[in-house]
Amino acid sequence: MNVPLNESFDDKIRAWFSEPSSFVSENNLSLDSYKIHQKELLLVVDSPPLSPDKQKHISKFFQNFLSSWDEVVDVKTIFTSKKDSLSANEKPPPDLKIGRHPKNEKKPLRPALVDKIIAIASGKGGVGKSTFVSNMALELNKRGLKVGIIDADMHGPSQPTLLNCFKKPMIDPETKKISPSISYGIKFISIGLLIPENQAVIWRGPMLMGALEQFLKDVNWGQLDFLIIDLPPGTGDVQLTLSQKADIDGSVIISTPQDVALIDARKAIQMFERLNVKIFGLVENMSTHICSKCGHEDNIFGNGGVKMEAKTLGLPLLGEIPLDKKIREDSDNGIPFVEANPDIKASKSFSKIVDSLLEKIKRYETTKDTK
Ligand SMILES: Nc1ncnc2c1ncn2[C@@H]1O[C@H](COP(=O)(O)OP(=O)(O)OP(=O)(O)O)[C@@H](O)[C@H]1O
Ligand SMILES: [Mg+2]
Repeated sequence: MNVPLNESFDDKIRAWFSEPSSFVSENNLSLDSYKIHQKELLLVVDSPPLSPDKQKHISKFFQNFLSSWDEVVDVKTIFTSKKDSLSANEKPPPDLKIGRHPKNEKKPLRPALVDKIIAIASGKGGVGKSTFVSNMALELNKRGLKVGIIDADMHGPSQPTLLNCFKKPMIDPETKKISPSISYGIKFISIGLLIPENQAVIWRGPMLMGALEQFLKDVNWGQLDFLIIDLPPGTGDVQLTLSQKADIDGSVIISTPQDVALIDARKAIQMFERLNVKIFGLVENMSTHICSKCGHEDNIFGNGGVKMEAKTLGLPLLGEIPLDKKIREDSDNGIPFVEANPDIKASKSFSKIVDSLLEKIKRYETTKDTK
């Protein structure tokens, strides 16, 4: 390609990316954005799903080719997968593309046949929300209830690993709706099913919201007793918008007993209170440590912190889950913890919490109906 000497770098790189016969078009790549600083070029390239080897190959090609330009010494490439995240025969019609900008929908995006939508939140990351969500779903399923999960953590989706299922959801050609994946009897949708593993999602706020809206209204959830939303940590846009748009029935806050987690849990509680979302209760996770060898119990992160907090705030404590190595091991291996180990203390604690939650929901419904 001949590039005039006085052409701006922006024109030059965009022209190169749009050249029909180049390496770029052969590999179905397009330039999403770029940054150049002191001859270091950071490329954000939109691509179909690529294996890590293929990504390496393409990155190397960019490094070799583009460093021959005067303006560039070093090239780093990040891949996004806004296009073709589903394989050819599973490709949704254009208006179902995941990650598009949200429409300004005024009415709530609540799926029609879902009875209860419950959000699981924490404030602080890594306290066990996703683990709680999958085990809560399994417990509800054991009780004969129909359950779905929306994994709303777009940057760190956990549900495909926890439910041991990475099968891409299918598109129903008639309804044009996405059929959720099903694992251990639980219907679920996650961005982790739609983009290749090891690939970062680099979406801006509006695109994240667009994808989440699609999880609510373009997924064929069918009749469900419970749709559980596994929220990302924090109290940002995703939490706020989802809580409002999904018209959720209530929330559960997970925290570990130590102060740092409780400070963030308080923020999540305040957020739901401000949004007028019912908080059904708090759960203390990693409450006591149970030694996998001798069964000895130790309070590594303290104990009772969440109970005290719940009392102070006038909220119910739904229960406590011990810190148990088996939970971590089974979760990482996609083994449904409460089903595989029904008789151990940690499983029983999940079961008790779900009973307590069902009882709180029932009581709340009754008081609502009599008002
Ligand atoms: N009670 C427990 N005992 C032992 N390990 C646990 C327990 N609860 C969760 N874990 C482990 O802690 C880690 C974090 O859990 P999880 O991913 O569920 O947290 P999270 O709050 O969803 O995190 P994030 O904020 O990143 O979404 C996982 O490895 C999980 O297996
Ligand atoms: Mg999580």
